[in-house]
Amino acid sequence: MKKNEKKQGVCDKTVWLNSLAALALGIGGIGFASAAERSGKEIVDAVCISCHASGKDGAPKLGDQAEWSKRAAKGLSNLTANAITGVRKMPAHGGQAQLSDIEMSRAVAYMVSGGHSTDTNKAYASPQSKSGEEIVKIRCQECHAAGKNGAPKIGDGEAWKPRLKNGVDPLVKSAINGHNAMPARGGMADLSDAEMRSAVIHMVNQIAAPAK
Ligand code: HEC
Ligand code: HEC
Repeated sequence: MKKNEKKQGVCDKTVWLNSLAALALGIGGIGFASAAERSGKEIVDAVCISCHASGKDGAPKLGDQAEWSKRAAKGLSNLTANAITGVRKMPAHGGQAQLSDIEMSRAVAYMVSGGHSTDTNKAYASPQSKSGEEIVKIRCQECHAAGKNGAPKIGDGEAWKPRLKNGVDPLVKSAINGHNAMPARGGMADLSDAEMRSAVIHMVNQIAAPAK
């Protein structure tokens, strides 16, 4: 009897690991978009305006179409990438790490168009210059290898299982926004949403396929 129970437990675990692997592997490519994304106007009014209204530190001013046209001459992708990673005195994500790449691209489109493009609806294809594995190595494992401050350990199925009950999306979101002792974007504000997503997926995948 006891023997059977034990067998059953092992079985459940295998099933769970398999579905987890399918879950983690099945979500490649798709850009991450949170449900509560705000419009370009809302972001500009709440965040960007603090420097871009007055032109603080040389920030291109709202309504200065000549200056914006000059900067946007090569298209919005480059400007959006700079606004995400930061450029000279412009802080990454305007200093608000929880803003998504899509929100940033909307805010940039709103400013460049002088308020005419309220929502481009065109998700900016966020740059993915580093792989999930690289990001985990250079940053996330600093806390997630040893479980510092209660961080779920890489490869520890028991620690990740309850967090994964609603799938990977909410985890990506809380890693971007920050979550208790977990700093927003792991403390690297210039990581794009796509990079954060692949870092989370890389960590989650270590449960089903532990690192060699
Ligand atoms: C703390 C001040 C500050 C805040 C807040 C801020 N910016 Fe900036 N921004 C700057 C400065 C300064 C520059 C000029 C940087 C340069 O070109 O030297 C700049 C430049 C830019 C540029 C042009 C980049 C380029 O490559 O020419 C974009 C686009 C931009 N900001 C978008 C935003 C958006 C979107 C927000 C709000 C989410 C925002 N900024 C919030 C200070 C700020
Ligand atoms: C300074 C330490 C630290 C770094 C660096 C760090 N984390 Fe975390 N992380 C934590 C802690 C602590 C928690 C547990 C927070 C909690 O749930 O209370 C956590 C939790 C998480 C969670 C689970 C969130 C949830 O909703 O349950 C994810 C996902 C995550 N981190 C991803 C990452 C990624 C991706 C990176 C690298 C870009 C990273 N972390 C870098 C400390 C860190």
